[in-house]
Amino acid sequence: MASDHGRSVASMFGRIAGWYDFLNHFLSLGLDILWRRRLVDHIGVSASGSPRVLDLAAGTLDVSLEIARRFPRARIAAADFCLPMLTQGAQKLARRGVASIAPVQADGRALPFPDETFEAATIAFGIRNIRPRSEAYAELLRVLRPGGRLCILEFGSGKQRILGGVYNLYLNRLLPLLGKVFSKDDGAYQYLADTIREFPDAPSLAQEMRASGFASVNWERLAFGIVVIHVGVKQG
Ligand SMILES: C[S@@+](CC[C@H](N)C(=O)[O-])C[C@H]1O[C@@H](n2cnc3c(N)ncnc32)[C@H](O)[C@@H]1O
Repeated sequence: MASDHGRSVASMFGRIAGWYDFLNHFLSLGLDILWRRRLVDHIGVSASGSPRVLDLAAGTLDVSLEIARRFPRARIAAADFCLPMLTQGAQKLARRGVASIAPVQADGRALPFPDETFEAATIAFGIRNIRPRSEAYAELLRVLRPGGRLCILEFGSGKQRILGGVYNLYLNRLLPLLGKVFSKDDGAYQYLADTIREFPDAPSLAQEMRASGFASVNWERLAFGIVVIHVGVKQG
């Protein structure tokens, strides 16, 4: 059962679902495509087997599609609690004839999968939206097999000054304005800027993952730390 916060997040993504892909690529100058590719570099599954991979907060399925492209034999569960986002993604699956991705409407805090189902899990630009994050970590840990990796792609903390403050100006002023003009949604891109500003920095997020039970936690900063990939392992 989604919390009040969850319901308002799901409804916000529902309102912008039709614009989501365009705005992602436009506002990041296309860099988001490279960031998702880099995330998938980290999942550590074998291309020769038929690994089960969970893409949580899958949205319009861009990470799931990248996993399917790189690992054609993988079976991918794409979980998100916002049906309009999954519907946009499902249209891409139909257009491209991809059958290895199963969209599943589910809350990351209560995943409808048995224990130890997945060899790897990804979450791109999703963990920032889940409250409390500890409940998502607990579920991810439960559904991962021992040795499986959790790979998180997320914005770095917006508290950090990047590129002499130019990025911060973009994030706090220009991005909410551009998002509003295109998506006609007053709050969605202000919410994006606010949650990035409040998000923990890379060492703190790593510490949070360790405290939740993940081992061998590491991170990689991309684009001067505008985004960060964290990887943690479920111990055997
Ligand atoms: C910024 S989008 C990211 C989508 C996709 N991963 C990508 O890379 O573009 C965040 C997604 O997280 C989903 N989300 C937020 N909280 C969630 C939760 N508790 N359970 C499942 N999905 C959630 C939203 O519905 C939205 O589709």
